[in-house]
Amino acid sequence: MRMLVSEARKLKGKYLPPPDKSITHRALLVGALATKGFRIINPLLSDDTFSTIRCLKQLGKPIEINHKEIVISPDEWREPEEILDCGNSGTTARLLTGLLARQPFFSVLSGDQSLRKRPMRRVVEPLVRMGAKVSGRNGDSLLPIAIKGGPLTGIDFKLPVPSAQVKSAVILAGLGAEGPTVIRESIRSRDHLERMLSWLGTGITRENGLIRVPGKIEIEGGEISVCGDFSSAAFFLVAALLIPNSDLVIEKVNLNPTRTGLIEVIKRMGGRVEILDLEYKCGEEVGNIRVQHSALKSTQIQDEEIPGLIDEIPLIALLATRAVGTTIISGARELRFKETDRLKAMARNLGAMGAVVEETEDGLIIAGPAELRPSKLKSFGDHRIAMTMTVAAAITSGGSTEIEDFDCVSISYPEFISDFRRLADG
Ligand code: S3P
Repeated sequence: MRMLVSEARKLKGKYLPPPDKSITHRALLVGALATKGFRIINPLLSDDTFSTIRCLKQLGKPIEINHKEIVISPDEWREPEEILDCGNSGTTARLLTGLLARQPFFSVLSGDQSLRKRPMRRVVEPLVRMGAKVSGRNGDSLLPIAIKGGPLTGIDFKLPVPSAQVKSAVILAGLGAEGPTVIRESIRSRDHLERMLSWLGTGITRENGLIRVPGKIEIEGGEISVCGDFSSAAFFLVAALLIPNSDLVIEKVNLNPTRTGLIEVIKRMGGRVEILDLEYKCGEEVGNIRVQHSALKSTQIQDEEIPGLIDEIPLIALLATRAVGTTIISGARELRFKETDRLKAMARNLGAMGAVVEETEDGLIIAGPAELRPSKLKSFGDHRIAMTMTVAAAITSGGSTEIEDFDCVSISYPEFISDFRRLADG
């Protein structure tokens, strides 16, 4: 589907973002391990989380979806008869590989055209060291992969890339392994699984960059309530900064500091953003954010900041086009391995709109400010590119922008365009 977007007047009022995708995936997988059942309140229901739900059902888990609630009943894990299709979801593929490594049966994971290009060796390698048999295409590095799980032994593992998906896969395997698993993380990535597991009382710890899973742990049951997704709210945060006369309050959003690097960047750029009413819920910081239209100046994004804003880099590139001076984003090579090559996609789309963008090996250099003009853009099948370009189109004048292949927004945010239209008109 093509989407036409034109200039927005202002973003005003209150906005409640959709539930967090990373937390919903983790709650589903942890819930599937619970021996007495598990309830997820306010889960995200999107294409990606449905991929996790579908795979867990194929693995024998009874999952009921009621209005704003998921109930997972305890049942035996079952060898799947068919290939487990992870769709577009890297989180499903990588975290599920960690869970399947400990199940004494054979399973095969695959996904769509984009997911089949994304690196899997980073998860396969530690799981093989723990005792699982895993093989896959292209020297065990690409989907489809076949897993013969079994008894695992804990390992001492240094993360080769600061990836929360790899870390979480090893933690999930470690929960079923003999002996402790230690994961060494040099740059902190999102820690929702660690927080959820310690909130559920499993004895998992994190200190000085070391995550320790004590060994075999039984999760009895529990309940998790999911707060708003910072990465989905980020499109509105950036839109409010860029669209004149905007003044928006984003409500009940996750403010876990491993996710909110964008707020620090916005403050450095001179953006008017403040956190209101911070509280703790299910082991996570949750609060409201007020954001107002602002004049911006350029900044530099440092390597160690990347994991805390990994999904917001396309939005930072957009902010940079409107900031005075040259913004340099480096250390972001991981963006080439997302749903699409996001560095290339942003350089192409912002360039088409008249921005001055140079693509480097591991980042982008953007000279601002530039007036963006309506154009024909591509989402490259990537939900975050489609939504970032919607915000870009909303700050153009004199016509509408066409964004090709827009349906992919349902991967993380099915209601995106209706939320955007409602707030942008108001
Ligand atoms: C995610 C981790 C990040 C992020 C992705 C979701 C997660 O990927 O880009 O959207 O839920 O663990 P990496 O861990 O590969 O950086």
